[in-house]
Amino acid sequence: MKFKLSQGPWETVFEGKLHDYDIEILSNSESLILVVIYEKKKNIGILTINRPQKMNAISNELTAELKQLLDDIENDSSIRVLIITGQGDKAFVAGADISELIDRNAALGRRVTKERQEIFSRIENLQVPVIAAVNGYALGGGLELALACSVRICSNTAQFGAPEVKLGIIPGDGGTQRLPRLVGLGRAMEMILTGDFIDAEEAFRIGLVNRVFPHDLLMQKTMELAQKIASRPPLAIRFAKDAVNRSQAGSPTSGYTLESYLHALSCTTEDKNEGISAFLEKRKGKFKGK
Ligand code: COA
Repeated sequence: MKFKLSQGPWETVFEGKLHDYDIEILSNSESLILVVIYEKKKNIGILTINRPQKMNAISNELTAELKQLLDDIENDSSIRVLIITGQGDKAFVAGADISELIDRNAALGRRVTKERQEIFSRIENLQVPVIAAVNGYALGGGLELALACSVRICSNTAQFGAPEVKLGIIPGDGGTQRLPRLVGLGRAMEMILTGDFIDAEEAFRIGLVNRVFPHDLLMQKTMELAQKIASRPPLAIRFAKDAVNRSQAGSPTSGYTLESYLHALSCTTEDKNEGISAFLEKRKGKFKGK
């Protein structure tokens, strides 16, 4: 019987075999299969957020794994395109893990959003193009993750939203900066102020996604696009991506910092506690403006 273990102090003890059991010590990136799966199909990397039972919500553990995987991906010169998707049929990523938001005070709010902003910026600036294959809900941090990708394509069942205000907080992972740049100020403002979801057709109409495909065809169509880009000269692709990214007017750095601090401030409010409790208790929140 074969066992797969992540790296740890047991490594030298087992040395590949324990009685009749084969022990395989996984490399750092292989051992990160718990909540983020990374695989390679020839020169295309596929990163799958893997918490389907929690709608692929972004937990602290997931953030740590993502960070480590990005170290590997940034150093892997063999990949030409990265695809990011979510496990299962329901969600791409349904935002930050709301159960972890209970403890998020101002200090944590600043720290966590700064860290996630940095991770998403690394994705935005990865030397290879990143395609978000949005297979279901892309909400809150999930929308922000998709926004950090170079191109978004989605299933006809996908839904997009920035529901943070309904929890008494504001987006903190770059959404207030990237969403208006992509879909325009008015539409971004409406999505962020109402917290309402929009469906795939509306997302296509406002330019939030490039293409919509029947759910069952999403990965096939994403691979086709990835293969097309991967077949182009790698340096031209890298320079083009960099140049297009830099077309965005001004430096959003101060905007990101302000977003992070305002998110932190929203974490100090009574309305935030009420919003999170209401979601977890599956009831409607009662907000007081305090
Ligand atoms: N964080 C933690 N858990 C989450 C989650 C999140 N962001 N989104 C969904 N889940 C959990 C639910 O609590 C539920 O867990 P349970 O089975 O232990 O009760 C499970 O995932 C399934 O979600 P559920 O709400 O039952 O599914 P649904 O199909 O009725 O609704 C959503 C799906 C995505 C519309 C709904 O879960 C939702 O609104 N999620 C929160 C989105 C959000 O506000 N994100 C921003 C956070 S800043």
